[in-house]
Amino acid sequence: MIHFDPFDYEFHEDPYPTYRALREEAPIYFNAELGFWAFSRHADVLGGFKDWQHFTNTGGISLEVGELSADSTVVLSILAMDPPRHDRIRALVSKGFTPRRVADLEPQIRALAVRYLERMVAAGSGDYVADFAGRLPMDVISEMLGVPESDRDELRGWSDTILHREEGVRGVPPEGVAASGKLLQYFVKVLAERRKRPGDDLASALCAAEIDGEKLSDKDIIGFLYLLIIAGNETTTKLLANAMYWLAKHPAVRKEVSENHALIPPWIEETLRFDNSTQLMARSVTEDFDYQGHAMKRGQKVLLLIGSANRDERVFPDPDRFDVHRDTSAHLSFGRGTHFCLGAALARLEARVSLEEALRRIPDYEIDEARAVRVHSTNVRGFAALPMSFGAR
Ligand code: HEM
Repeated sequence: MIHFDPFDYEFHEDPYPTYRALREEAPIYFNAELGFWAFSRHADVLGGFKDWQHFTNTGGISLEVGELSADSTVVLSILAMDPPRHDRIRALVSKGFTPRRVADLEPQIRALAVRYLERMVAAGSGDYVADFAGRLPMDVISEMLGVPESDRDELRGWSDTILHREEGVRGVPPEGVAASGKLLQYFVKVLAERRKRPGDDLASALCAAEIDGEKLSDKDIIGFLYLLIIAGNETTTKLLANAMYWLAKHPAVRKEVSENHALIPPWIEETLRFDNSTQLMARSVTEDFDYQGHAMKRGQKVLLLIGSANRDERVFPDPDRFDVHRDTSAHLSFGRGTHFCLGAALARLEARVSLEEALRRIPDYEIDEARAVRVHSTNVRGFAALPMSFGAR
């Protein structure tokens, strides 16, 4: 009998053998103690993403019991909505988040990346997470929102506190709830200012967005801004560090990518597939029904194990091999269907620019694995610290 507990620290070290066993022996797994189902095969995870009629987002998207706010639907914004309301509000917020708006950020992202990397180069060593990967995504969102530099450290502090989990505590600590309140209040203030004096930023674009006479309410806008902070930061931070980590672990691939920067986008996609920063998304069963011979009950949580689907041998040949030449188009790292990650293009852009500049400036980076620290979370996979050094140039 397989035992799968996503809170287990040992499981966080290397979840892949457990995923493999689940795919083989219990692809539709039920954990009676914690009362959740888990899908581990690609076909079921994909099906779960698409079938919102049976698997809803409205019950939250994680297994955690605690809530960040009394009104969790505000802070989860479109992530906690089902169609048709989801699709309407998503269409409206997308107006502030267009491919053009994202692509235009490239020079700013590059300037930020260079600034942080140059500081690390000057020091000769550093923590890739604290000095670079943990800072860049928050700065990029701040640029989009027009948050002044003087406020950014405070915002980053709140965001970190919101996401921090105490060992052994299966919920959001009181500090997280307090920080969440402060962040919401900050956006209330930003919104009031933008309504008075519109600028060229995302918040102003959201105020102006309109489809068929429908506009976004203050609550919709504040919730969406908050979601961007939560959805866009930690995931991208972890992607940047995971990419550097796995490249260092594969010297032949590293040589090839270092010599040919055209392989940077495939390296990013393979990192997303091989070790995604988002390991799972939760859904709730909408009604009692039979799923492949399993009696699912209304309200039960279902975990869609993205990390496992991405290693499913039915879809990816030799799935445990890190291979920048494989077809990664079926990976589920940004989800699928109606909730497909709205920030995927931004995450890919941030990763490409950051990794291009990193390979240019610190091509000989060496990771001090003994001092690397993994985060422990039920759904986020990556490093809290990734110390590295660089040779003399
Ligand atoms: C490597 C980086 C990222 C990963 C792995 C990732 C992953 C995901 C996944 C799996 C979903 C689907 C959630 C579901 O089905 O319930 C999602 C949704 C979302 N993501 Fe991302 N994300 C990343 C970066 C970003 C960034 C940079 C932003 C924005 C700044 C962002 C904004 C969003 C939003 C707004 C949604 C909700 C979409 C909806 O409900 O319609 N993400 N993301």
